Amino acid sequence: MKQIVTAVELPEEASELLEGVGSVVGPAGWREALGEAEALITPVNVRVGASLLEEAPRLRIVANAGVGYDNLDIPAARERGIILTNTPGVLTEATADIALLLTLAVVRGLPAAERSLRRGEFSGWGFGDYLQGDIQGARVGILGMGRIGQAYARRVRASGAIIQYHSRGPINPAVEQALEATRVDRDTLFRTSDILSIHAAYSPSLHHHLDTATFRLMQRGSYLVNTARGAFIDEQALVTALHDGHLAGAGLDVYEHEPKVHPGLQDLENVVLLPHIGSATPKTRTAMARMACENAAAVLRGEPPLTPIPG
Ligand code: DGY
Repeated sequence: MKQIVTAVELPEEASELLEGVGSVVGPAGWREALGEAEALITPVNVRVGASLLEEAPRLRIVANAGVGYDNLDIPAARERGIILTNTPGVLTEATADIALLLTLAVVRGLPAAERSLRRGEFSGWGFGDYLQGDIQGARVGILGMGRIGQAYARRVRASGAIIQYHSRGPINPAVEQALEATRVDRDTLFRTSDILSIHAAYSPSLHHHLDTATFRLMQRGSYLVNTARGAFIDEQALVTALHDGHLAGAGLDVYEHEPKVHPGLQDLENVVLLPHIGSATPKTRTAMARMACENAAAVLRGEPPLTPIPG
């Protein structure tokens, strides 16, 4: 009997896809069961590095239950001929919603306004009170214009933003036209965006892609949103840029050393901090789990995986 090990608690709608494929060991004993495992289903917060792979000599597939796969040691897995898969597409809308939510929250000053009300400072509607920025007419820069970047672009475009983006290649011209989006080079994106939102796929070559120099390139008074991966950002440099007022605010769902959050971010009122909830809806998580199970099942049946990690 083939053994499938899952470090993810699978909803029934997903685990039923493994029936008849193999026996399943769940999150309680997954690590100890790796010795016999032919398939591993893993969440994005488990590091599947060379030493973990060594514990699993029979492994044929690692099915990542997430779209980002920086938790996987790709060269080590490929060297062993292990198939790697992820879950593109199913979490696009949920993640774009959180990026929009963070954008609106920081630009309209939600954290400070909400705290002010809770402190009892709301004394009635005031003509000059709580005035903050606009999305309408703002130039939104999108770093990485894949599925999630485009879904976010549709949302902010509907709020009246002007879209510009930087990505490795141009997007479908029809999509670009519908969004009235302009592709620009990286420095132009940083220099001219009022709001910058990160939607690229993280790889070590992009470690601290946003650092002191990049923040200096950004306009004084601009905003940063990150729902991709924390390690894109040098968090100390971000704290400095927020502290000295160069950046007007930041909305973050991801951090370099999760679950730790840079202490300098915690006290800032112009920052919204979420606990990596981009895909956190039951519907989305079920779809992610189902896709991971479908990939594992396909490979164990000798079929090609549905969504292999490219490369
Ligand atoms: C992913 O899938 O990469 C997200 O970060 C988890 O929702």
